[in-house]
Amino acid sequence: MNIILLGPPGAGKGTQASRLVADHGMVQLSTGDMLRAAVKAGTPIGLQAKAVMDAGQLVSDEIVSGLIGEKLDSMKPDEGAIFDGYPRTAAQAESLDGILASRGRTLDHVIELEVNEDALVDRITGRFSCAKCGEGYHDRYKLPKVAGVCDVCGSTEFKRRPDDNEETVRTRMAEYRAKTAPILPIYEARGLVKRVDGMADIEQVSAQIEAILSGK
Ligand code: AP5
Ligand code: MG
Repeated sequence: MNIILLGPPGAGKGTQASRLVADHGMVQLSTGDMLRAAVKAGTPIGLQAKAVMDAGQLVSDEIVSGLIGEKLDSMKPDEGAIFDGYPRTAAQAESLDGILASRGRTLDHVIELEVNEDALVDRITGRFSCAKCGEGYHDRYKLPKVAGVCDVCGSTEFKRRPDDNEETVRTRMAEYRAKTAPILPIYEARGLVKRVDGMADIEQVSAQIEAILSGK
């Protein structure tokens, strides 16, 4: 199964993708995570992307589509893909069609996480993650079970993203409205769009996604 998780910054794409990885053995393809890894490693792509990401703008279509193609090539044919934060423009949606077709894959669902934008700044500015394994947390909505200790790997080091400040979040939301939301009709015309209430709590959002995947 190949699915896209679509929604604005803070909608819960990464949170839900990591649950699908754990529960179904699918593979998460997050262009944001790939770009952050490139920035950290200081690769040419990372050097090019850093300032754009820090400003909350979109990295070039060629770079992100290249990253997605490479990642898919590293996967086994029977492993399902969760596209998290990709595609984000009409050009990326078109590239994805070619990328999937050339690898004999088809898109099963485009799951839109519907959220109230007013709540997103709060979600994003409260976000942090484990510095070792990347598990995501939130200051109020998802704290580690033991304070200061990662539930998954036991690390005591956490980090916050440099683009998780209010000013950058506003730019990221504007980019979403202007460039990403307009790709929904492309997928609606193909009957692929399924909507879930992204304002529900994390467990309930997962349950809605599970119902879609199981065809209920
Ligand atoms: P990216 O990393 O994709 O960031 P984003 O789209 O802005 O989305 P986020 O990761 O901020 O939000 P999310 O939906 O994953 O939410 P999360 O689950 O963490 O992209 C970053 C940058 O990289 C872009 O700005 C751009 O520069 C570049 N880039 C990436 N892809 C690109 C592309 N394809 N093209 C061009 N440029 C690209 O949840 C947020 C918080 O809320 C967490 O703390 C979580 O615990 C909490 N939470 C989640 N769900 C709930 C819930 N239901 N209730 C309460 N709290 C919740
Ligand atoms: Mg994310």
